Amino acid sequence: SQDPLVVFTPSGKRGRFAVGTPILTAARKLGVDLDSVCGGRGICSKCQVTPSYGEFSKHGVTVAEDALSEWNKVEQRYDDIRGLPKGRRLGCQATVQGDVVIDVPPESQVHKQVVRKRAEARDITLDPLVKLFYVAVEEPDMHEPSGDLERLVLALKEQWDLEDVKADLHILQGLQPVLRKGEWKVTVAVHLGDDENPPRIMHLWPGYYDGAVYGVAIDLGSTTIAAHLCDLATGEVVASSGLMNPQIRFGEDLMSRVSYSMMNPSGAQEMTDAVREGLNALFTQIASDAEIDKGLIMDVVVVCNPVMHHLLLGIDPFELGQAPFALATSNALRLRADDLNLSVHHSARVYLLPCIAGHVGADAAAVALSEAPDKSDDLVLVVDVGTNAEILLGDKTGVMACSSPTGPAFEGAQISAGQRAAPGAIERVEIDPATKEPRFKVIGSDLWSTEPGFDVAIATTGVTGICGSGIIEVIAEMRMAGLVDAGGLIGSPEQTGTDRCFADGRTYSYRLWDGDSDNGPIAVTNADIRAIQMAKAALYSGARLLMDKRGVDAVDRVVLAGAFGAHISAKHAMVLGMIPDCPLDKVTSAGNAAGTGARIALLNRAARAEIEETVRKIQKIETAVEPRFQEHFVNASAMPNAVEPFPILRS
Ligand code: FES
Repeated sequence: SQDPLVVFTPSGKRGRFAVGTPILTAARKLGVDLDSVCGGRGICSKCQVTPSYGEFSKHGVTVAEDALSEWNKVEQRYDDIRGLPKGRRLGCQATVQGDVVIDVPPESQVHKQVVRKRAEARDITLDPLVKLFYVAVEEPDMHEPSGDLERLVLALKEQWDLEDVKADLHILQGLQPVLRKGEWKVTVAVHLGDDENPPRIMHLWPGYYDGAVYGVAIDLGSTTIAAHLCDLATGEVVASSGLMNPQIRFGEDLMSRVSYSMMNPSGAQEMTDAVREGLNALFTQIASDAEIDKGLIMDVVVVCNPVMHHLLLGIDPFELGQAPFALATSNALRLRADDLNLSVHHSARVYLLPCIAGHVGADAAAVALSEAPDKSDDLVLVVDVGTNAEILLGDKTGVMACSSPTGPAFEGAQISAGQRAAPGAIERVEIDPATKEPRFKVIGSDLWSTEPGFDVAIATTGVTGICGSGIIEVIAEMRMAGLVDAGGLIGSPEQTGTDRCFADGRTYSYRLWDGDSDNGPIAVTNADIRAIQMAKAALYSGARLLMDKRGVDAVDRVVLAGAFGAHISAKHAMVLGMIPDCPLDKVTSAGNAAGTGARIALLNRAARAEIEETVRKIQKIETAVEPRFQEHFVNASAMPNAVEPFPILRS
């Protein structure tokens, strides 16, 4: 007679196993993804399964509840102390007794899918670099002398197949009391290593450690630093936090920070110290938000632009300020947190994604990882709009990248009434094409300015200025209402038929808000329109240049990334000619794609190798040396464009 048949769902993997084989053993043999931290000792309960069909049943309970075998003592003990959910069994304790179908619930899978908010974005398969392992270590024996560490390393090899695990001095220093306190059973956090590094013991706990270990994904921007704290065993984001980049005090934009370092002998070092202090403040903040010890943060991933990259590492960014924009290194970096003076677990590692080119940083690489243009069937243009626009164009057959100096106008800088996105800032605008009268919404209120109750809604914030998305909307609306011509000139009251247009020096301005007792009026000046024209021309020319290189006149879809991208209205962006002509429903926002890319690299070790390979293959285009860029720039200063037809927009 044959051995019983064991089928696992949802994988469908199946095989025959002798009566008495533990389910965990059967799962391992078949390559079924079933978790275990304690190595089958009935302690961790990570191996829970649900028998959904089985041949027999014991002591009168339903088949599903007891399909595998009688409860054994270990399971009973676990159930008594911690409680096992109804219908669940410990896979390491329950044994095969007959033909059976066993369901592995998602939380028992090692490589679980981490659910993402956006349905169209790629899923993250959990496979972090730091994992916990529970081991029983041989006690020392006078007849066979060997060190405690050697026996621990042997246990990791025998019980977990971990080869050649190393330990730092601080582990060695604490090893002996931990082993004895745990009565020769310990939980070990191991960094699994990579191409450059062998697996390494990060931390030891006596006995079974029931807590979590954490990683942080950091999007280190020139203006703000954002961090997500993730539980490395579940992939869950347990806290998110952000702060202003403390380097702001050395200059608002990157180039002023580069010049600060040129003018001041210790400038680069001061900025390095500032950004590291900022990161440490953020670690403290995020750990306190999650009520954890920041010493449990064992892995850190950072994405940032090239200048921030160099400053974080303590490399003078001087060379990035001038042609040929040479990076000290464009490779991904695997560092010790200690080397960067970061106050997390003292063995924690830091991974920096590779930079694509001197102007196209690890942040763009993270966007490429998150949006995966290299896996796209259709031709996709991905633009990450910030002070520099990073632009990717490609599909499965190849991806190109460039950056374009848009300047800070899109963030509200260089705009007379411009401000950062904050309560009180105008973010949505509509202008009636017949009456030329505007209405708008400010951040912090859902009401249009013409609706009753608006005054009350804005009583605490007032109307303080126009943020980046607001300035794009108002200029696009002015263009559609005929208040401004294609060349960017605001018309006179006579030309436009509204006295909202008023003489302002040699040109005209458009009064968007009359002001109140707290705040003065808000107007859009011709200089504001000029600044946006320059910024959008730079963005468009970069995209157009990549399209030239690719030999196409249109793209299938456009993805707007970046915090600002999340707020831009596709229609208004296209009216201005910021992005190439494309059906509006093919323009999507990816939110903070760079931050998502950082999180993918934190939670999945294969993603690191993947993005390194992708970046090697990306064709880098340097806009500064391309004569066509200038030509595109001049044409793109018009709204939407002096030469390009924009047929979809016009239809
Ligand atoms: Fe830990 Fe089963 S493997 S309880």
